[in-house]
Amino acid sequence: MRKKLLIIGAGAEQVYAYQLAREAGHYIVATDQNNKAPAASLADYFIEVSTRDAEETLSAIQQYCQKNGVIDGVMTIANDVPYTVACVAEYFGLSGHSVDSANLAMDKLRMKEAFKKSNVSCPDFWEVCNLEELIELIKKKNLKSFVLKPLDGCGARGVLLLESTDNLEWAWNESSSWGKGPTLLVERFIAGLQISSESFLISGKAYTPALSERNYTSLDKFKPYIIEDGGTIPADVNMSIKQEIDRLVEAGAKAMGVENGIVKGDLVIGDDGIPQIIELALRLSGGWFASDQIVTATGVNLVQAVMRQALGEAVTAAELTPVRTRSTAIRYWFPQPGKIKSILGEDVVSSLPGILKYGFFRKCSDVQPTIRIHPDRFGYVLVEGEDRAEAIARVENAIASLTIEVEA
Ligand SMILES: Nc1ncnc2c1ncn2[C@@H]1O[C@H](COP(=O)(O)OP(=O)(O)O)[C@@H](O)[C@H]1O
Ligand SMILES: [Mg+2]
Repeated sequence: MRKKLLIIGAGAEQVYAYQLAREAGHYIVATDQNNKAPAASLADYFIEVSTRDAEETLSAIQQYCQKNGVIDGVMTIANDVPYTVACVAEYFGLSGHSVDSANLAMDKLRMKEAFKKSNVSCPDFWEVCNLEELIELIKKKNLKSFVLKPLDGCGARGVLLLESTDNLEWAWNESSSWGKGPTLLVERFIAGLQISSESFLISGKAYTPALSERNYTSLDKFKPYIIEDGGTIPADVNMSIKQEIDRLVEAGAKAMGVENGIVKGDLVIGDDGIPQIIELALRLSGGWFASDQIVTATGVNLVQAVMRQALGEAVTAAELTPVRTRSTAIRYWFPQPGKIKSILGEDVVSSLPGILKYGFFRKCSDVQPTIRIHPDRFGYVLVEGEDRAEAIARVENAIASLTIEVEA
């Protein structure tokens, strides 16, 4: 009997999960608001519904199951919809993160409150209801450098790095415009090494095949927007920091009610050497981290682990343990804003050594926006190498090999 797997979302970054499910012989039910989404044609059955609309998704799946029988598992990848996944899993009694945990994952304030309650190291944070409260807080706490963000963002939407002397009225309006809620979150800015982690937990123990060192060399260029320019695996950290990170992820996950399954971390190792959690996402990562970078660098396939867990199969420590140590690096292109006139050098990029993947999010005649959020980046290139030095040299060469001409 083929197992029936529901995959929430059928976008470009989800194609890999569909390919894996097909290879495993599963029957795939897909949802997406766009019936022409890149992975839609890889599904056996497609349901047109927004991945963000948990209620509509659940009702569509209930109808589907009434007609066609039960589903055996539900998952997503690279899509910040843990709540939708959890609602379906919980209703049908399938394995996955609970609705309570997913609720915490969707609210940066409640997540941090849960961390604080359990003494999980994270930046100091305060909720502010309006501009006056923000100004007062900065004075009271003597905050020199801080981050302002919506409670419900993703992809760096409305995440601003500010100084007390910046135009705070502008900052309030800008950050608010990206969130749904009436309030914003202020966090102490933690200077240090920024890390992406992706762990699979088994009975509360974190297995983290690889850490990526996030590249913020252009932080000053995009400030006040915090825009990440890719990352490099392995991160330049020693074994003891890696172990500390595992313990921190375990504690953070536990504070969110999670003992099993996927946990993606945004972490920072402060200049005092202590890792802190900026946030944990209860889903597989985007940016080709789980689907390509970790697989290439370590041989561990977290997408497969999540799929197997979703279908009620046991995931073992052995399959989460790296079998090789290679390096990968991903970087993005950041053209000037304006109408794109030409994109030159793609043939060179595609034939460079070590290229795993590259992609453009825009084409000629499209308008390149000013960079304010991650989806504004023009495109990415992902390479592999023997070690960090080789991967970084290759990726920087690939970035330099493309010219994007823009009409201002
Ligand atoms: N308090 C902080 N200190 C240092 N860096 C931060 C802080 N808050 C956010 N950042 C940086 O900005 C990125 C985006 O913020 P985050 O809260 O993760 O929002 P999003 O949901 O958009 O990913 C983080 O991954 C981190 O690199
Ligand atoms: Mg984040």
